[in-house]
Amino acid sequence: MTTLQPPRGTHDLLYPASDRAAKFEAEAARLAELSGFRRIVTPMFEDTALFHRGIGEGNDVVAKETYDFLDRGGNRLTLRPEGTAPVMRAIVSNKLWDDGLPIKVQYTAAMFRYERPQKGRVRQHHQVGVEAVGGEEASLDADVIALGWDILAAAGVGSVLLRLNSMGDRECRAAYIETFVSALRPRAAELSEDSQRRLEVNPLRIWDSKIPGDQEILADAPTLADALCDDCATHLHAVRAYLDEWGIPYAMTPGLVRGFDYYTRTTFEFQSQALDAAQNALGGGGRYDGLVEAIGGPSLPGVGFGIGVERVLLAQEAAGTVADVSALDCYVIPLREEDVSHALSFTRAARAAGIRTDLAHRVRGLKAQMKQANKLSVRAVALIGEQEAAAGAVTLRDMTSGEQQTLSAPAAIEQLTSGGTHR
Ligand code: HAM
Repeated sequence: MTTLQPPRGTHDLLYPASDRAAKFEAEAARLAELSGFRRIVTPMFEDTALFHRGIGEGNDVVAKETYDFLDRGGNRLTLRPEGTAPVMRAIVSNKLWDDGLPIKVQYTAAMFRYERPQKGRVRQHHQVGVEAVGGEEASLDADVIALGWDILAAAGVGSVLLRLNSMGDRECRAAYIETFVSALRPRAAELSEDSQRRLEVNPLRIWDSKIPGDQEILADAPTLADALCDDCATHLHAVRAYLDEWGIPYAMTPGLVRGFDYYTRTTFEFQSQALDAAQNALGGGGRYDGLVEAIGGPSLPGVGFGIGVERVLLAQEAAGTVADVSALDCYVIPLREEDVSHALSFTRAARAAGIRTDLAHRVRGLKAQMKQANKLSVRAVALIGEQEAAAGAVTLRDMTSGEQQTLSAPAAIEQLTSGGTHR
């Protein structure tokens, strides 16, 4: 029988990377909480219609990448490809605006996109995200961007480039699209096949093309940044002024259009400078002032971002900040069957004191036990034999120096907490 593998484009996330992912998610959640974002958990699947209304029909993610299925009741459902539309649906379903505005929520969740798998691009990925809904002030955009910046700085992903743009509002963007399309039309035949298709269904996405021929044509094309109405230009200016004041560097990027149709005004992306262009987007987001209304709610403007956990792990590796940490501080070895009970009590007391501790449940020769302790890369081993058990003591061996001391259980725990044997 062939060995079963995870489905194409998915991975088992194994330690130590899985431990790093958990740490990253916890730290991101803590920083978001410090900024007033409450946790929200929405279903992993939604009515298919939500993504058509929210993300847009002309969009590649909706057109080609969703996992759609019929359940046994014949309902058309879709595994969420992103978090913003589901969160807006939850806000509308639960009328969360009754508790005051803005509504600030955060999530860590799996997203599903049927993409062509490659490094950093998978069919199930995970995002930490925040959404601030019910405020249109530029200070809110800047505050959200700064949070994303801080989360990535805390993650040790190396140098990050913040790209910033504005998508304008419904009116100035519509006018711009007309200008853009008429500027490109005469050279349409020279565009790549993909860009020719986009010219008909979603012209702004042509800005995403990495094909040199397309880029050459784009170099002469009018940009959205130059076509913003006064209100949108003022808003962008204010966002920039905050970032300038806080010393958060950014690159204005007229070609940054982002993947979803819901964006208005501010859009941004955090790019790793250590990763290749195909997977260098660590996170991205922006404002989506018409989204809540588009899915049947009141007119509530919003802004948020999503950061890809898999991409963060890759960037940490590329930045060389990945420490080879052991999962345990102390390994407790009972020398005889009669010592197991005392050893287990000591193990539990050490854990209660916050020391990561495990016990060799199976009693065997000291040599084999020490080999296992080395494999675990523990800093200390606690040996418990006849004498130790009788005295309520342990013999603590520092695995780096090889020094050994027999101490009472509380003194050993004190030593592990404060002394050189602690990580
Ligand atoms: P997004 O740019 O599509 O935005 O995804 C956010 C991040 O998720 C990306 O920057 C990337 O790190 C990661 N990501 C996306 N697709 C994949 C994939 N196939 N494999 C690995 N990582 C991936 C959104 O999803 C928006 N909902 C963000 C947002 C929140 N905008 C406003 N609020």
